[in-house]
Amino acid sequence: MTKTYGKLASRVYELDKPVGCSFGDVEFYLERLKTVAGPVLEPATGNGRMLVPLAQAGYSVSGFDLSSEMLDLCKMNCEKHGVKAGLSQQNFTTFAYEQKFAAIVLPTGSFQLMTDPLDAMSFLRRSKEALAPNGKLLLDISVVGDFMDHSPRVRHWQDGDDLLTLQEMRTATDYAKQIVTSHLRYELWRDTHLVTTEMELFSLRWWGMFELELALREAGFTQVKIFGDYQSGAVDTGPVSTLTFEAA
Ligand SMILES: C[S@@+](CC[C@H](N)C(=O)[O-])C[C@H]1O[C@@H](n2cnc3c(N)ncnc32)[C@H](O)[C@@H]1O
Repeated sequence: MTKTYGKLASRVYELDKPVGCSFGDVEFYLERLKTVAGPVLEPATGNGRMLVPLAQAGYSVSGFDLSSEMLDLCKMNCEKHGVKAGLSQQNFTTFAYEQKFAAIVLPTGSFQLMTDPLDAMSFLRRSKEALAPNGKLLLDISVVGDFMDHSPRVRHWQDGDDLLTLQEMRTATDYAKQIVTSHLRYELWRDTHLVTTEMELFSLRWWGMFELELALREAGFTQVKIFGDYQSGAVDTGPVSTLTFEAA
């Protein structure tokens, strides 16, 4: 099952990927949504990094997330930027809305957080049901290159007097199931003292390009377009590190 982002993880996310941070995805999603007039849903909306710019562009936006800490950040960011959003605490596999959406967006590889393919299929079917006729789902995955990268990582962020660190160590790689598990250790330091530590076992599932296309078709989507590294036009699979699927 998937994990939620805890207190320190959420604080680090906000420091690392605040509203205004884009990997090219914010601009690309806005471009792909140009023909969309109705409401937009972002599952796993996090701190609102994508949701706030969508609201600023004039879309009526809703978002859900499993983590209450991430939802608090999202609410704070919506208020800070003067935009409204319908926010709720829900899960990928059980989310439900009375309204239908013109588009559903799932950037940043959040789809890969569903490590059980049955959960992923349930999410895709639920998304199809939540979309209005002709509505589209946009989602990103990382290509398999990162799956092979086992090197440990240490990163840090200074936040006023606070130093936040994140140590990431791969502890398991299941090649058959395409799942990696990393041991994440978040620490908060102040004046050379360790204030608090947060541990998380973080798992991601890798998808093949055609595997995900088949999964989308199995979930009821009939038109599937695939883009590489947020470039319009046919995907050049050579050097690409991110794939965006657009399904209707
Ligand atoms: C990588 S962040 C993405 C945040 C935001 N969408 C963005 O693009 O910056 C992943 C988010 O997924 C949420 N999440 C993890 N498991 C979830 C689940 N089962 N249901 C809903 N949200 C979940 C986490 O709490 C976190 O906010």
